[in-house]
Amino acid sequence: MPVFRSALLRFADDGTAAYDADGLLAVGPDTQGRQRVLAAGAWSDLAPRFGGGPVEHLPGRIIAPGFVDMHIHFPQTDVIGSPADGLLPWLENYTFPHEKRFVAPEYSAQIAQFFIAELLRNGVTTALAFATSHPASAEALFVEAQRHQMRLITGKVLQDRHSPDGVRDDTEQSLIDTEALIQRWHGVDRLGYAITPRFAPTSTPAQLRGAGELAARYPDVWIHSHVAENLDEIRWARELFPASRSYLSVYDDFGLLRERAVYAHCIHLDEPDRALLRDTGAVAAISPTSNLFLGSGFFDYAEADRVGVGYGLGSDVGGGTSFSPFHTMMAAYYVGREGQTKRGLSLSPAHLWWQHTAGAARALGLAGVVGNLQPGCEADFVVLNPQATPLLARRTAQADSLDELLFAMIVLGDDRLVEKTVISQAKYGSCV
Ligand code: GUN
Ligand code: ZN
Repeated sequence: MPVFRSALLRFADDGTAAYDADGLLAVGPDTQGRQRVLAAGAWSDLAPRFGGGPVEHLPGRIIAPGFVDMHIHFPQTDVIGSPADGLLPWLENYTFPHEKRFVAPEYSAQIAQFFIAELLRNGVTTALAFATSHPASAEALFVEAQRHQMRLITGKVLQDRHSPDGVRDDTEQSLIDTEALIQRWHGVDRLGYAITPRFAPTSTPAQLRGAGELAARYPDVWIHSHVAENLDEIRWARELFPASRSYLSVYDDFGLLRERAVYAHCIHLDEPDRALLRDTGAVAAISPTSNLFLGSGFFDYAEADRVGVGYGLGSDVGGGTSFSPFHTMMAAYYVGREGQTKRGLSLSPAHLWWQHTAGAARALGLAGVVGNLQPGCEADFVVLNPQATPLLARRTAQADSLDELLFAMIVLGDDRLVEKTVISQAKYGSCV
């Protein structure tokens, strides 16, 4: 049974952070042989039970839950940093042309390999990812995630209109392909399927209806889409679906709001929209680096909390600008602080971190499975080195509280902070 001695970060059920400066993490196989957390807490409390055998001592390091990225596009790995006058020109000029390349299985496989390696290098151990409209792209990502035994959810994108040749799919075939991929991959090892209509403007009513029917037939499959990101996008969606009360309501009208339905952005919502998210159990994947890069707007944390909307963080690469959860948490702080279009808040560092770990897992319906280091969780974790850069070493050494320590890492951290990423294996031992 592997036992680690190190500082240890984890979260209580109410989202508060628990930190042991001298902690113990014990990991062992469940009945299927999957590595899970057996115990986590203060060394002094747990050493009598778990410290008797070999212990891997990691002085100066912090073990923390692997990060959960609630919204990312694997085929946009090479689209990062493409400037445009907002979302719609960005899609038309960069993203759709690039995504055409994923028709080729070899190309999809090559990018999937780089993408998973980059997630792991940055400490991301669970992701909900868009593929492209080509079934081969989703297939390639499943294969690569399975090779790493990673918990990953993806799906072939549905987009049967207002999309160029090469990414536009056929209504009927797209639904047949989706169901075949669900049957082939959902629940295999740690993989999950997400029914993935790109966004309402690029799907016909028939495709959205078919997606909703599949969502009803496969209730534990995820739904993954975009909503209320950009004002031009919203105008377009309202024109295309005039019978729906709002852009978000379009999804409700087609049976696409329920638990395990994840909508990226959720920026420009009104009161009934927020109540609809809360009441259906659908959640927001806040994607702050993307929203700042594309000039989309600022997620309203105060209103989401007041109404009780579920949420967590996503990178939204390649509208988003970084794979690093530290950059995403930093941008979430900026977004929360913005006080011209909504109430500005100072989100606490522990809350920012929670949004990218246990909070994101809860929003995905995976509380107690990933995103935390409580007993029973799958043993996905990162080993952080707060001395990774000279400035990080100085600032973290002077931190007088947990909040100061976490904030120093959020503000100054990047992939250099992540010394090791450990994925729960069916047989222990594979580290990146
Ligand atoms: N809306 C529809 N497609 C996309 C996409 O690829 N990225 C973002 N950020 N928004 C979208
Ligand atoms: Zn996106």
